[in-house]
Amino acid sequence: AGLVAAVTGGGAGIGLAVVEELVARGARVAALDVDPSGAPEGVLGVPCDVRDRASVDAAVATVVRELGQLDIVVNNAGISAVGSVEDLSDEDWSRVLDVNVVGMARVSAAALPHLRRSEAAAIVNTCSIAAQVGLPQRALYAASKGAVLALTFAMATDHVAEGIRVNCVSPGTVHTGFVDRMLATFPDPAKEKAAMDARQAIGRMVTPEEVAVAVAYLA
Ligand code: NAI
Repeated sequence: AGLVAAVTGGGAGIGLAVVEELVARGARVAALDVDPSGAPEGVLGVPCDVRDRASVDAAVATVVRELGQLDIVVNNAGISAVGSVEDLSDEDWSRVLDVNVVGMARVSAAALPHLRRSEAAAIVNTCSIAAQVGLPQRALYAASKGAVLALTFAMATDHVAEGIRVNCVSPGTVHTGFVDRMLATFPDPAKEKAAMDARQAIGRMVTPEEVAVAVAYLA
């Protein structure tokens, strides 16, 4: 309660669930998204493309201007990629790393001057289990999340002494539009969904709300 949070990719999926969880706990929340139309009522929807530093800087400035401060950043915007290294073009590599890794660096850099003024500053990045276990057909996606894990440790080390905690969550497969779009790229989406459910320790995909509780805890 009393804190202000900015959630990238807050317009859908895990980000939207995080927005709702933080609001329920009393935070004032901004959803930074290329399409912020999904932001619930009472949440500040801010158009933001994490690929574009000017867009990110403007969005963070808007949050601070409208909500007066910034205490929590949830770097959650991310995109998927399916394939082995043989399937992926240089353009694919640039596009996914730009969103999933450099996007987090851009948002964090814009937010840090504001976080330093907070008594309860925290950054939570959305990593993935793909950072630490081999998943088939996810070479680029896994590489991007491996980079997120390394970035999280590095940022935590850089900023802990100034009172800014940096953590990440590493969900298993979460049933969102992200997964449905990826499933659609497989020859047999129903078979792939069954395989995805089966490879989760709990026998089903995680819900966005389950991830949101973990993010709120770390924040
Ligand atoms: P989603 O596709 O349902 O939602 C992603 C949101 O990010 C959308 O609102 C989209 O408009 C926004 N977005 C996309 N590109 C953007 C950009 N350049 N700038 C600003 N916003 C942008 O995805 P989902 O499943 O909620 O994923 C969110 C995060 O969770 C991603 O980082 C993803 O890698 C990660 N993750 C997802 C898992 C899953 O199985 N769904 C598992 C583990 C991690």
